[in-house]
Amino acid sequence: MGKVIVVTSGKGGVGKTTSTAALGAALAQRNEKVVVVDFDVGLRNLDLVMGAERRVVYDLINVIQGDAKLPQALIRDKRLETLFLLPASQTRDKDNLTAEGVEWVIGELKRYFDWVICDSPAGIERGATLAMRHADIAVVVTNPEVSSVRDSDRIIGLLDSKTLKAERGERMEKHLLLTRYDAARAERGDMLKVEDVLEILSIPLVGIIPESTDVLRASNIGAPVTLADARSAAAQAYFEAARRLCGETLPVTIPGEKRGLFGKIFARRAA
Ligand SMILES: Nc1ncnc2c1ncn2[C@@H]1O[C@H](COP(=O)(O)OP(=O)(O)OP(=O)(O)O)[C@@H](O)[C@H]1O
Ligand SMILES: [Mg+2]
Repeated sequence: MGKVIVVTSGKGGVGKTTSTAALGAALAQRNEKVVVVDFDVGLRNLDLVMGAERRVVYDLINVIQGDAKLPQALIRDKRLETLFLLPASQTRDKDNLTAEGVEWVIGELKRYFDWVICDSPAGIERGATLAMRHADIAVVVTNPEVSSVRDSDRIIGLLDSKTLKAERGERMEKHLLLTRYDAARAERGDMLKVEDVLEILSIPLVGIIPESTDVLRASNIGAPVTLADARSAAAQAYFEAARRLCGETLPVTIPGEKRGLFGKIFARRAA
């Protein structure tokens, strides 16, 4: 059975969809079988970021309503054999996303894929709780600023109470993905530092993605950054995050700083 990841955040626009696409592609680039599922009807939808918007025929709600079979709605990535997308509906009412329907779709996808990655809408409303409901692992996407950190803290509370895992008394694996990190701004005090965010949220760090025009450029050409620009710092950070999700232990480096995070914490303690 595959693992279900929810990519979530309280605050909007922090990089969930970008990260879903990049992590999904990074895992598929390791030959894992991956499906990314769009739970959001937003401006920058997952199909756009994946460059598949013109290939969408059926979507998640069609499948739930029985208008299409699940394989009819899955879109295989043109670049990666093992990467698939289940798109969101652009028009239909969000109320059609039923709890039973979502449960069935996720259950089916887990049988065929190693990873089912759910791109959640922002906030704490129904769409977000449905997206996280069946997750084994949560990736909490957070920007280094107070409002984003505060909203992530609320989401962590929901992950520990509203998910199936929580209801069964099981532990939800939670990871912090810090995105749009700008070392120079953090140094000037315009942004929170990594240590500050970690101190508030106290869940393990799965990666730090730098603020980068490479990410914007990739999204504009409809490709996850790990495919569009695999050598960029952002792509490298996503590759490392994917390796950590697969269970590897790697030291986390802060983009734009030479010393690793552990080195830095150690240096501070020693001082
Ligand atoms: N590391 C980065 N560097 C620069 N820009 C980024 C980075 N990550 C994301 N962005 C940009 O930030 C914007 C928001 O990203 P994205 O759509 O992935 O966020 P989201 O959390 O899915 O938003 P929503 O809550 O609306 O669904 C996009 O324009 C995206 O290209
Ligand atoms: Mg999004």
